[in-house]
Amino acid sequence: MQSSIKSVGTYVPDGVLTNFDLEKMVETSDTWIRERTGIKERRIAAPTQTTTDLAVAAAQSALGAAGLRPEDTDLIVLGTSTPDSFFPSGASLVQQQLGAHGPAFDVQAACTGFLYAISIADRFVSSGQARQALVIGAETLTKIINFKDRGTCVVFGDGAGAVVLGPAVNGGGIKSCVLHSDGSGGDLIYVAPGEPGPEGRGHAEIRMDGRKVFRFATQILAEVTLEALAKAGVPLESVRLIVPHQANARIIEAAAKKLGVAPGVMANNIAWYGNTSSASIPLALKDAVVDNRLQPGDHLVLVGFGSGLTWGACVIEWEGAPAGGA
Ligand code: COA
Repeated sequence: MQSSIKSVGTYVPDGVLTNFDLEKMVETSDTWIRERTGIKERRIAAPTQTTTDLAVAAAQSALGAAGLRPEDTDLIVLGTSTPDSFFPSGASLVQQQLGAHGPAFDVQAACTGFLYAISIADRFVSSGQARQALVIGAETLTKIINFKDRGTCVVFGDGAGAVVLGPAVNGGGIKSCVLHSDGSGGDLIYVAPGEPGPEGRGHAEIRMDGRKVFRFATQILAEVTLEALAKAGVPLESVRLIVPHQANARIIEAAAKKLGVAPGVMANNIAWYGNTSSASIPLALKDAVVDNRLQPGDHLVLVGFGSGLTWGACVIEWEGAPAGGA
């Protein structure tokens, strides 16, 4: 049995932080940010809004789009690097708020979190251990940003995305997943103690060697896409859509070039959300579904990388799935 995406749902906070807002906070400019990253604005959670709040809203959108009730699911896997607390897990909190049942746990693989989560849930569903799984990526990264560090504060944003995973019906669904980790790159992007900032933001902060991460990312996105396609036995030419982790528009463009695919094959909505870590792939997938970029029978690749270093990709034969949410 193979597992398949039954619906996609998203939630982003109402608060918008534009490049012009950032111009007032650090020495940067709208032009620099747009040209170097492709980002125009990002969402920012309210001080009282938690990662769990975002995850619950995204899960409800995915359930609503599929016409399912929370009790129709029996597994929750949440990819996040910004859980509300060390424990209980974010997934347990989501389960309680939804009124769902079954095992629930978090996966911490930084920006590769959604790929790790969907890959694990795929094993549960395809082995029959779960009937229908909620797979969520949710982050409130702006709570671990130093808004005085222009190398990081222009890049990241908050958001959440979710899919319901269930048994494939037409022989489609997830054809392969590959995951990797190399801890020797752990010092390229990490979280360190930070100065307490306004509204409780900044107790911990992301530190990043942007240039080195950039080089790694452009190489690995193409490599792991080809690895997952080879494992699935799907030729690159038959891929309709590649949904990469949204870290930088130039990384996405460079990966398209390396693969030799048209830029239009790559999903790219980074202008509106920035890098939302484990939420970025489901957020971009949702926009692609809403824009009618996928038809049943199409092949797509979800591919990402992140701190760890971690990276991975999944190849999917799209069976058609509704999308919902903000
Ligand atoms: N505004 C204006 N200038 C900035 C700036 C900002 N926000 N950030 C850096 N600069 C300056 C630098 O100080 C540097 O100035 P200098 O040439 O006088 O020394 C110049 O711009 C170039 O800096 P550099 O760090 O080489 O920029 P870049 O083109 O690599 O862009 C990132 C920086 C962070 C946008 C880019 O490296 C990146 O996206 N890296 C990947 C990060 C990533 O994917 N992280 C997530 C992993 S999941």
